[in-house]
Amino acid sequence: MRRITVRGIELAYVERGAGTPLLLVHGYPLDHSMWNAQIDTLADREGCRVIAPDLRGFGQSEASRGVVTMEDMADDLAALLDELGIDEPIVFCGLSMGGYVAFQFALKYAQRLAGLILCDTRAVADTPQLAAARRATAEEVLEEGSANLVAAMMPKLFAELSASGSPQMVESLGRVMLENNPQGTAAAALGMAQRPDVTASLCKIDCPALVIVGSQDAISTAAEMRSIADGIPGAEFVEIPNCGHMSPMEKPDEVNAAIARFIAALQ
Ligand code: MLT
Repeated sequence: MRRITVRGIELAYVERGAGTPLLLVHGYPLDHSMWNAQIDTLADREGCRVIAPDLRGFGQSEASRGVVTMEDMADDLAALLDELGIDEPIVFCGLSMGGYVAFQFALKYAQRLAGLILCDTRAVADTPQLAAARRATAEEVLEEGSANLVAAMMPKLFAELSASGSPQMVESLGRVMLENNPQGTAAAALGMAQRPDVTASLCKIDCPALVIVGSQDAISTAAEMRSIADGIPGAEFVEIPNCGHMSPMEKPDEVNAAIARFIAALQ
């Protein structure tokens, strides 16, 4: 992985290929490796300059204390692009928490976007109950580590068939979650708890958009993702059958094909 210092922290990222800049932004509490089935394929076959960072506090990137908001992470990514000298419009692809970051990026840095891909994410804010649970999780993770968080999340991430058909995939994701820095995991939980509801802003997104969801996503349901697509002018909606929340890992061929089609249509 490469490393670069932006906004006072060292970010680690993978960079492959040349062509349309494509930023792949991971979910919570994961790292860039959730995109392993996309990185080489989209770089080698689809002519993309793929950049897959570990967000602040995750994977090999440095963590910071306190609250890290979705806007903070969007600012980190804009600064990363600046450091890499990328000033042409990019395609931003985010999954779940990466989608929360994508919304903040789209609202603040609209002119930097050639396209927006939202995978298995939500536009609404946390309910007060969910926000309170996240604050409790943040405390617990700092005191005792991430084992309970991982045990609670794991059953919601994959469709049953994907989980039973590929235990190594489930196991390796669990390891990533457990190995993440508790400070980063806690800071992002607090940031997600205070993220704004962006439903009313969806109509302001004026770049081409692709919305991808697994039909069995238990966290961001297909119905909820369809209403996100309905709210973004001209957005394309792709629902992937027999697939849960981790669509890029569970159904890489379908996700790669949808992304490749979307990027080809931008040119
Ligand atoms: C994710 O996959 O990033 C999380 O499910 C997001 C969340 O906890 O809201």
